[in-house]
Amino acid sequence: MEDEAALSGGSPRRRPKTDVREVGGRKLKASTLMMGHGFDPALSEGALKPPIFLTSTFVFENAAAGKRHFEGVTGKRPGGSEGLVYSRFNGPNQEILEDRLALWEDAEEALSFSSGMSAIATLFLTFVQPGDVIVHSGPLYAATETLIARILGKFGVTWLDFPAGATREEIEAVLDQAKAKGRVSLIYLESPANPTNALVDVQAVAAARASLFPDEPPPIAIDNTFLGPLWAKPLDHGADLSIYSLTKYAGGHSDLVAGGVVGAKRFLDPMRAMRNTIGTITDPHTAWMLLRSLETLELRMTRAGENAAKVCAFFRDHPKVESVGYLGFLSEGRQADIYRRNCLGAGSTFSLYLKGGEREAFAFLDSLKIAKLAVSLGGTETLASAPAAMTHLSVPDARKLAMGITDNLVRISIGVEDADDLIADFDAALSAV
Ligand SMILES: Cc1ncc(COP(=O)(O)O)c(C=O)c1O
Repeated sequence: MEDEAALSGGSPRRRPKTDVREVGGRKLKASTLMMGHGFDPALSEGALKPPIFLTSTFVFENAAAGKRHFEGVTGKRPGGSEGLVYSRFNGPNQEILEDRLALWEDAEEALSFSSGMSAIATLFLTFVQPGDVIVHSGPLYAATETLIARILGKFGVTWLDFPAGATREEIEAVLDQAKAKGRVSLIYLESPANPTNALVDVQAVAAARASLFPDEPPPIAIDNTFLGPLWAKPLDHGADLSIYSLTKYAGGHSDLVAGGVVGAKRFLDPMRAMRNTIGTITDPHTAWMLLRSLETLELRMTRAGENAAKVCAFFRDHPKVESVGYLGFLSEGRQADIYRRNCLGAGSTFSLYLKGGEREAFAFLDSLKIAKLAVSLGGTETLASAPAAMTHLSVPDARKLAMGITDNLVRISIGVEDADDLIADFDAALSAV
């Protein structure tokens, strides 16, 4: 075929190269594969980097190929689409992104979404029906709680929760109660929880599920935004789906909004069908930005993690600081045990409790010169905010107190700046309190 094309004067079609996943028997690391996996320059005029494919639709080779594509997309034929059809379903940039995202957790597949929340909403719409019960860990990111209680609640879905640090017995008791209420269609976790940093025992959740649902186990999905994909790999511990706000560490520069889900194909296939219908896929430009971000993911997260360890060590000994909620300081008890089993690093987002209340927290925030006063996390720059007055303002007071969201709490996400510069900034701001 290629010879024929060459003889006829047309340029021969080059076939995609098979991806290199190992060298000399050595399985390559995700950080190495981020530079090329899933993209063949031969398919894009030799471009080293993938172009941004700004197209809403894709041309079929012939009508029969078009029919075959649609048989795959609609599920008439198993195996999904064999090619690209329409940009609400997928595109080259999103496909490369998904191939690369899956590598970080050694997952079978990944899907990309327009935001963390659209990933979470697509998950719920895929697995949950009216009358079902969702069992979840608490607290969850506020918008996720709203989605479950207020939005799915309108469609007859109910929920039961257990506290993040719950034991296997406590989780079993809640699952048992949930079974009595209706079909338990999803177990949803967030670890560490925002903003308490409390860790969920994923192995205990998996064990509790196995004993209560031996025949038709509901999937376990976990929001891995805070520690993933470098510091926690929950698929290794019994979760079926790992969910991301890619807006945070994966995007890493506070310049995009996106979401992702990684896991086994049998869970992602129905989610892909739902995404095809409701159009919650990420756009090509954002997917391209994420490809660029993923090349430095390990570098950025490693540096941010090292910086956070130094900054937290400084805060811990400061006379104006009441306590520091940092995973790296867990040394004994159940949380430390979960940390040792489930986490590969302490992250770079933590809670700082100042001595005093709102006045002291605000004075500290207003005096910062390097750290920016903004919500969100996981970017190259250091951010600080006051959850009680900002992200969690609408949470009822009693619940805020139960979650440790007090007026003296400052949430900090450390970036990749020089650690000593950051410490100088925090030191000066504490002097101003
Ligand atoms: C833990 C967690 N999950 C989900 C989200 C939602 O992600 P997005 O803002 O990308 O929709 C956030 C956002 O802050 C988050 O912190």
